[in-house]
Amino acid sequence: MSGKATAVAGANIAFTKYWGRRDAALNTPLNPSLGLTLDNLLTTTTVEFRDDLPEDTLVIGGEPQGGKPLERVARVLDAVRDRSDEVRRARVVSENTFAAATGLASSASAFAALVRAAFGALGEELSTEELSTYARLGSGSAARSVPGGFVEWTTGKTHEESRAWSLHGPDHWDLRDVALVVSGTEKKVGSADGHGLANTSPFNDTRIRTVEAILPRVRQAIADRDLTTLGELMEHDALLMHGVMMTSTPSLLYWTPATVEGIHLVRQWREEGIPAYFTIDAGPNLHVFCEGRHADEVARRAREEMDLREDQVLVGGPGEGARLVGDHLF
Ligand code: PMV
Repeated sequence: MSGKATAVAGANIAFTKYWGRRDAALNTPLNPSLGLTLDNLLTTTTVEFRDDLPEDTLVIGGEPQGGKPLERVARVLDAVRDRSDEVRRARVVSENTFAAATGLASSASAFAALVRAAFGALGEELSTEELSTYARLGSGSAARSVPGGFVEWTTGKTHEESRAWSLHGPDHWDLRDVALVVSGTEKKVGSADGHGLANTSPFNDTRIRTVEAILPRVRQAIADRDLTTLGELMEHDALLMHGVMMTSTPSLLYWTPATVEGIHLVRQWREEGIPAYFTIDAGPNLHVFCEGRHADEVARRAREEMDLREDQVLVGGPGEGARLVGDHLF
């Protein structure tokens, strides 16, 4: 056993969002969520368990990490070690194909890749669902980045129950995510802290009830490849979530003027006959979902009308789940 493995995982963008935790230690969500694992916003991570390390170490994008990022990774590795009767510490090196902490779901792909690589390094073959429970410990949405394609993550009361699975593989539907990176700066309040504020909004209970009520329709719209229904419900829930964020104490306002401009433009494109719908995570950037045949036009119009550079408009499609690869980062 070499004790070393490398995994790749894609971001998973939610159609119905996870916002607010049932159990903060377990990262179990207040509501189930549905999302798409992407093939373009990727994290690659190499994990090596070694006898000579007193502590876990972490390097992201060439920068050695300490403090909270390292603590989060070490906590997940502790759970992996417990499951595998392992005592060695690990060296972890990770690279993203996109800027971290901009609301482009870097923690989702990061923890999915981490647990896939960590169990791979220990020679453990977990089911995708069980693997998703370990990714969830690092970042809730990471549970959804473990399976490929169109994914559901259930609430669950225990660590074992709160797991994610694939509803449909990546080939089910040629849906595209046109990510509009209107800002590349790091956000002030990340989702890890933001979840703790959800309950302070008077709208939170209403949102949770609403998401639970629309979930069967979202599932059906995905099964039917019905973009109109999926898109309308997706926008509705994104706005509900940002309503909760804005009305929390303290208030979280992730939008910038460019976010609002993007919302108006997507609605205008629809009026002009381009079926495209937005969603927004815990950041200012937009994800515009459309079918493959409209992706070039959406990307072109976003560049022209929002004055965005090539590298600010990232087009992705349905991707595979977290998987092991042969090329190590060290
Ligand atoms: O997994 P976290 O803690 O980064 O939270 C993700 C929160 C949202 O991106 C806003 C919604 C989601 O379901 O991905």
